[in-house]
Amino acid sequence: MQDKTHLVDEITGHRRMRRNRKADWTRRLVQENRLTVDDLIWPIFIVPGSGIVEPVASMPGVNRMSVDKAVEAVKEAADLGIPAIATFPNIDMALRDETGSDGLNADNLINQATRAIKKAVPNIGIITDVALDPFTSHGHDGVLREGEIVNDETVEIIVKAAIAQADAGSDIIAPSEMMDGRIGAIRMALDAAGHQNVGIMAYATKFASAFYGPYREAISTGGLLKGDKLTYYINPANGNEAMRETALDVEEGADMLMVKPGLPYLDICWRVKEGFGLPTYAYQVSGEYAQIKAASMNGWIDGDKVMMETLLCFKRAGCDGILTYFAMDVARALAR
Ligand code: PBG
Repeated sequence: MQDKTHLVDEITGHRRMRRNRKADWTRRLVQENRLTVDDLIWPIFIVPGSGIVEPVASMPGVNRMSVDKAVEAVKEAADLGIPAIATFPNIDMALRDETGSDGLNADNLINQATRAIKKAVPNIGIITDVALDPFTSHGHDGVLREGEIVNDETVEIIVKAAIAQADAGSDIIAPSEMMDGRIGAIRMALDAAGHQNVGIMAYATKFASAFYGPYREAISTGGLLKGDKLTYYINPANGNEAMRETALDVEEGADMLMVKPGLPYLDICWRVKEGFGLPTYAYQVSGEYAQIKAASMNGWIDGDKVMMETLLCFKRAGCDGILTYFAMDVARALAR
């Protein structure tokens, strides 16, 4: 028994927050948010060839895989209970051109991966990114003409790429190029092609962020990129603009919304979830992953704990799930 508590009792009026934190069992009882395997979407990088598993230098623990190896990895993900994956191709340089024409190819790398994964692992959701950056010789998400990324022509191409992805068996199309009008155009085209059950996860608020660096290494677009993406991605300074952008995607028929990057944009996660109520996902992007890995490899932070904390914080900020390169590590940790 402490005897000199009256001063604190006078100040707190006997309201003591620490009572609920006093033991593991009370802490578990009052915990408001939880991370489960159902919250995870695993982004993976695909390369041509077979038998290939090659590390991405700036993302320790992340590999680029050929389709056969990706199939094996995705089987493991499904066994761990991960509901969905998101695929990104690193195609041959020789196939990249001004307009990203390989994006339309029914048998391109991404569509090959979808077919193989769908066949071998039918119970996992496949989310395919639709943008032209993996396919263009200049690293931009759209068609580049006289220094401008032209909107409407890009949308026409994106729509065709989306149909090819749906034909290959993609469950959810995730347009990431931030062209105006793309969600509506893709929805109409999917429906017209008989793909009513294929969903759209809009990269509703995609910011012009410096956190995408390691991803551009992973799909080899970093060295190609001419200029920046400021004319189509959102300025990191703008929250209201992000809400307006999201409102349009919702109106045009998005089934799910994404906020990207993740941690520096938790306010946007909260506003999007509160404002629209749609299933909302954060993309913990490559640079966020690299930061945690680098500090952890230096022994400066406890990487596993920081990983879990960041993902739990997305839940608290209103997210229904997270695209994260940590997905397999987290699923394994949660299974223990
Ligand atoms: C572009 C796209 C990007 C990412 C996924 N799709 C950004 C870019 O390179 O501009 C980034 C993902 C990450 O950083 O993890 N279509």
